[in-house]
Amino acid sequence: MIQKPKGTYDVYGDKGKQILYIEEVFKALMKQYNYEYFRTPLFEASELFHRGVGSTTDIVTKETYDFKDRGDRDMTLRPEGTAGIVRSFVENKMYGSASMPIKSWYYGPMYRYERPQSGRFREFYQFGVEVFGSDDALIDAEVISIAVNIYRLLGLKGIKVSINSLGDLESRNNYREALKEYFRPHLDTLCSDCKERFEKNPLRILDCKVDNDKEIMKNIPTTIEYLNEVSKKHFEDVKKYLEVLDIEFVVNPKVVRGLDYYTHTVFEVEADIAGFGSQNVLCGGGRYNGLSKQIGGPDVSGVGFALGMERLLAALECENINLVKDDNVDIYIIPMSENEISNALSLTNHLRLNGFKTDMDYMHRNLKSNFKQADRMKSKYVAIIGEEEVKNNIVTIKNNNTKEEYKISLEEILEFLDSNILEEGE
Ligand code: HAM
Repeated sequence: MIQKPKGTYDVYGDKGKQILYIEEVFKALMKQYNYEYFRTPLFEASELFHRGVGSTTDIVTKETYDFKDRGDRDMTLRPEGTAGIVRSFVENKMYGSASMPIKSWYYGPMYRYERPQSGRFREFYQFGVEVFGSDDALIDAEVISIAVNIYRLLGLKGIKVSINSLGDLESRNNYREALKEYFRPHLDTLCSDCKERFEKNPLRILDCKVDNDKEIMKNIPTTIEYLNEVSKKHFEDVKKYLEVLDIEFVVNPKVVRGLDYYTHTVFEVEADIAGFGSQNVLCGGGRYNGLSKQIGGPDVSGVGFALGMERLLAALECENINLVKDDNVDIYIIPMSENEISNALSLTNHLRLNGFKTDMDYMHRNLKSNFKQADRMKSKYVAIIGEEEVKNNIVTIKNNNTKEEYKISLEEILEFLDSNILEEGE
């Protein structure tokens, strides 16, 4: 038997319903925040991620799905959404727009060749937002509020928001030097990857899974100690606005994020739920003021975040939150014999096009098993079409709850369902 690739999963049944519900929440919320929908390709030139995400990050060195296309070009399945959205922003010259900031949202699959474990997939879905063109801390706070409001709207209680600041370029460079000074005397205790990171990008030593528990990792200087005045002010403003928005947070200097593009604010939301797995970061993001320039565009600032759908579903499950409530079919249509199948099909089509959730018998069941099927579908009404009904241009409709029966003419059926189903729904 051919099986699904490692680190992937199939969606069907209740999980599918739960996902569709959540997607509606994303869409509705983005409308309220006045964000614009973006969609970029699932694959991009590999160079985009080398330059964007960073050539020394774990994502780019160990986790990308790279391939040559038939034209011998180096391509990569996108491991995240930000680099592609920034590419699109630059390529489509949106930076000239007078309507800055450009506020975008996206949703789709991402690919990372990671070791599969609970909460870590090789194909996973991210919902994300990216905002371009404003340096104001207002936007940092707004982006964090979107993440928090999604969890709030879905009823998730156990979340913890952690924020930190990496500062502007000057602050980041100062911090980089401080890290080098800190690690230099202990280089021989670090793993071979970290020795290389020390030379190329010492910040990445902080994500090392091998050296993680070593003594040397315990007293690392924090980014906040190296913020210059401008960066400090920006961070203070973010905190002030988060308070205005009623968002509880902690400042955690350990949050530095595993992608290279961040400047100033970085944040993560963790699941704070007993029994949740070790992959408890539900979403993460921050500001990335240098990224547009780094991939060949103008110097336009950006800020955003992405949340993982799989971890969100796991968190909802852990808190026993079932979003899918009303799963009833409005009406189930039964033809009494082969002779009435076309009439049943036509009525089904008519009701569907008029907004009723309608299903019919496709299996040539007898009346008794058709009623069982209607019960399985939790159908509110059942319509029966036999010889008599066709002759008189009517249908026999049965309320599946009260078992009351009505003879309704075809002209009046919409009116009947409208008033009865709406009444019941109230
Ligand atoms: P990230 O932290 O790499 O950031 O991913 C964001 C979220 O995607 C994670 O918090 C997690 O929920 C989910 N995620 C990541 N990898 C996996 C995986 N292998 N399996 C399941 N879920 C996963 C970014 O991707 C940045 N682009 C976020 C961002 C947007 N920063 C600024 N704008």
